[in-house]
Amino acid sequence: MKRVAILVSGGGSNMVALARSMEGDHPARPVLVLSNDPAAKGLERAAAMGIPVAAVDHRPFKGDRAAFEAALMEPLLAAEPDVICLAGFMRILTPGFTGRFAGRMLNIHPSLLPKYPGLHTHQRALDAGDTEAGCTVHEVTEVLDDGPILGQARVPVLPGDDADTLAARVLVQEHVLYPAVLRRYVSGDRTPVSL
Ligand code: GRF
Repeated sequence: MKRVAILVSGGGSNMVALARSMEGDHPARPVLVLSNDPAAKGLERAAAMGIPVAAVDHRPFKGDRAAFEAALMEPLLAAEPDVICLAGFMRILTPGFTGRFAGRMLNIHPSLLPKYPGLHTHQRALDAGDTEAGCTVHEVTEVLDDGPILGQARVPVLPGDDADTLAARVLVQEHVLYPAVLRRYVSGDRTPVSL
């Protein structure tokens, strides 16, 4: 049984989708939900699902990323994860951290990478006049929002869309894509998922 740790910063809707997908006949189980924000709603939702939770507040570390990551590493390593899923995790990780988990850390990003790495992806797609948008699950490397693509889901940009309506349409697909990618990934299958 593969052990999956999920890192969140906010509501954790992707975490919920991943955790639900691992109930029943699945080669993996969630063993920890970890956040940089002790008040993250995702922690409450995970606890309500019976998943162990932990939080390391990044604010006291005042930009000392290495020190924050050393503290984050403690509960994470204690859970002995085989795979780490970043799911709405909003802190940039240093090569020291990403290198430690190279080849077994995934992230979901709300754009069709390599377009729009970074923030405000939906507004940038709208500003560019794109007729299509979506989300990407990729392996995490030391380069932000880069790394081998493991799956993508596409949605139409509709007339009258704003960043919120587009984000909502993409988020629905995130909750389908990430569980589909994770299932293949923990089975050793790297065939990209295309939705
Ligand atoms: C989602 O759009 C995800 O792609 C981005 O953070 C947003 C919120 O994710 N990384 P969640 O609801 O906290 O999973």
